Amino acid sequence: MSTGDSKPSEPKGDFGLIGLAVMGQNLILNAADHGYTVVCYNRTTSKVDHFLANEAKGKPIIGVHSVQALVENLKRPRKIMLLVKAGDAVDNFINQLLPFLEKGDIVIDGGNSHFPDSNRRFAELKEKGILFVGTGVSGGEEGARTGPSLMPGGNEAAWPEIKGIFQDIAAKSDGEPCCDWVGDAGAGHYVKMVHNGIEYGDMQLICEAYDVMKRVGKFTDKEIADVFATWNNGVLDSFLIEITRDILNFNDPTDNTPVVEKILDTAGQKGTGKWTAVNALDLGIPVTLIGEAVFSRCLSALKDERVKASTILQGPEVSGESPVKDKQKFVDDLEQALYASKIISYAQGFMLMNQAAKDYGWKLNNAGIALMWRGGCIIRSVFLKEITAAYRENPHLDNLLFHPFFKDAITKAQSGWRSSVAHAITYGVPTPAFSTALAFYDGLRSEKLPANLLQAQRDYFGAHTFQVAKGKGTEFLPENQWVHVNWTGRGGNVSATTYDA
Ligand code: 6PG
Repeated sequence: MSTGDSKPSEPKGDFGLIGLAVMGQNLILNAADHGYTVVCYNRTTSKVDHFLANEAKGKPIIGVHSVQALVENLKRPRKIMLLVKAGDAVDNFINQLLPFLEKGDIVIDGGNSHFPDSNRRFAELKEKGILFVGTGVSGGEEGARTGPSLMPGGNEAAWPEIKGIFQDIAAKSDGEPCCDWVGDAGAGHYVKMVHNGIEYGDMQLICEAYDVMKRVGKFTDKEIADVFATWNNGVLDSFLIEITRDILNFNDPTDNTPVVEKILDTAGQKGTGKWTAVNALDLGIPVTLIGEAVFSRCLSALKDERVKASTILQGPEVSGESPVKDKQKFVDDLEQALYASKIISYAQGFMLMNQAAKDYGWKLNNAGIALMWRGGCIIRSVFLKEITAAYRENPHLDNLLFHPFFKDAITKAQSGWRSSVAHAITYGVPTPAFSTALAFYDGLRSEKLPANLLQAQRDYFGAHTFQVAKGKGTEFLPENQWVHVNWTGRGGNVSATTYDA
């Protein structure tokens, strides 16, 4: 630990970090534990002094009071990570750094930045000869300290320079680092955005399982915690199931009742799930589960309206004893519903990333992404090991659901999944994520959907034209043409107009 405000004759720093909130501090300590000398700066400089005098004591950490000193203390090419609030703060710090940087230096944004911003920063800095990296960092404060999941993308020329430190400080899964190069421009932040969207989906699914156990099964929180504990030893083994178990077991010491039941039921959100849903709509990919997860948070936030509606709107309710006769089957069915819905959610997430790769010209490596999410991050789970294996076996897999492992898993889970959704619907408990996953599954496996009628409606009221299905062509309705039908016969006989396809 030392201060580095006077210009050193020989810079010692391997890595610079701006932003000493807990995430930043923990990432610095993690890097220092791996033998890297880290130079740190924070806008409120007293934080630097406090950090140096306490957590950083005895470690290879240099604290500075200006961005200039930060740059001067770093070996070339400088590698500087910003862990500051996404948005203007990132641009402000980049602008402060620029006068002191040289061509080939690397600026890394480790915040939850929106990928279009990262696309822009990548291009702006490239023009100046500075290598921009936008990296997803997941795992919260604990992950930052012990090994986060890192998803770097941007200027690929930076990768050989930062690969060592990134892979050293990242979490490991079966000995492999949960960090690899994601792709060009904003690809790293894009993949982190989808990670967060999936995080929203996983959390919503868990909440729905809890709600069904509580409202239909009439389980106590302790009983629900025990169910999650059991599930955590099976196919659902994951960080989020584990913390849910612990949350449900956590009592308020003043009355020994679960803290979770005293928390106001309105969900917050910082926006990354919404970005994923909006992007899915932009790219035309049905990422329905994340969409429902975002809308569920929105509905929860309408607390006053819900309180009012609860006194006006009628529906089924389990008021007395639970209608569940076979508790074990009820719980097993729910486990299958959660598992199957989770498979759908990840399949949708990868569908979205595949489309993004095409539209944005990125080469995304699905197996690598699954491995990056396998450990360290919030959605880490045993299940991601199977996804990694599936994409390693076939990197060009059209859809995760077509892989024999997931196809079989979802086939086996199906009856429990359907019965859980039916239970929830019968007893009036909302399960939007379970239900949309099932509707998506049934939609995907439908050779025919009622969009024929929809096309007819569009053509009826707006002359939007339609195509004739293969093998159904007639003299009136030719194939391989765009056809408009005069559905009402107004202005003459019923007729069809065709346009070249
Ligand atoms: C992570 C988390 C992290 C953050 C979420 C919370 O990967 O470590 O995803 O990035 O906790 O952004 O998001 P909401 O506030 O929107 O729930």
